[in-house]
Amino acid sequence: MGRKSASSSAKSKEKRLQRKDEQIRISQAMAVVAAANKLADPLEPFPVFRKFNKNGISAELYVKKVTDLDQSLKDWAFGLTKKNMQQKYEQCSWGWSDTKKLDELTDEAAWYLVAASLDGKPLGFAHFRFDLDETLEVLYCYELQLEPGFQRNGLGKFMMQILELVAFKNNMRKVVLTVLKNNQHSKFFKALNYNFDESSPLDDDEESFPYEILSKANKRLQPPATSAKIHGSNHCCSGHDHHH
Ligand SMILES: CC(C)(COP(=O)(O)OP(=O)(O)OC[C@H]1O[C@@H](n2cnc3c(N)ncnc32)[C@H](O)[C@@H]1OP(=O)(O)O)[C@@H](O)C(=O)NCCC(=O)NCCS
Repeated sequence: MGRKSASSSAKSKEKRLQRKDEQIRISQAMAVVAAANKLADPLEPFPVFRKFNKNGISAELYVKKVTDLDQSLKDWAFGLTKKNMQQKYEQCSWGWSDTKKLDELTDEAAWYLVAASLDGKPLGFAHFRFDLDETLEVLYCYELQLEPGFQRNGLGKFMMQILELVAFKNNMRKVVLTVLKNNQHSKFFKALNYNFDESSPLDDDEESFPYEILSKANKRLQPPATSAKIHGSNHCCSGHDHHH
């Protein structure tokens, strides 16, 4: 009849408990992400990082939610991303779409780290989000873009350091980003010790991917014991959900 053997009911109980543990962990992770998204100024604990003075560049840095940015800054961020990236997107299967990139850059979950000259001219920005990625709380870097005349002077590295400080201070488990394989600038992230993330897709005979996912883990937090795979979206230096 409908009676299960003792061992199989023990197994299903174990599974039920595992699922419950995982649900608890996900709701805790969501609370961590929600708390980070409520910050007034994520840079507040790091006043030293509000200024950059090196290699002839003097810049001020600030962090704001996209909803608090001036329209002129959003227009500049879009224009710079297009200038730096359009060709690389077009050279791979992603293609470029003004609308998709604009939607992504102005999504209400977007946060911006901006570097501006002392007279207020923007020099570079990072678009990032606190989010769940495959059930883990992460800081996802969607974009890091510097004006061409201000590259290779250490400003990009300084900005990534800020994102890492902000991420780890707020209990994110890793900083994650997507890079296009055809972008020679992605060597920058390797130089900063970003490694292949476990969620990065692997090419096989049937499919090859134009991008890879890199990450840096928060050493202070142990990885959670369980991790059910729920597909999040991958972005950065990258973009929209091309691969979905
Ligand atoms: C990628 C980018 C953000 C890097 O910022 P940056 O300020 O130029 O880089 P930094 O000067 O901080 O570089 C730190 C280190 O990274 C490495 N690096 C940076 N750019 C590199 C490149 N193009 N090729 C190889 N290594 C690079 C170097 O080791 C460098 O140290 P070094 O200059 O002392 O040799 C910037 O160049 C940029 O905006 N590029 C165009 C947009 C883009 O491609 N964004 C990233 C999308 S994946």
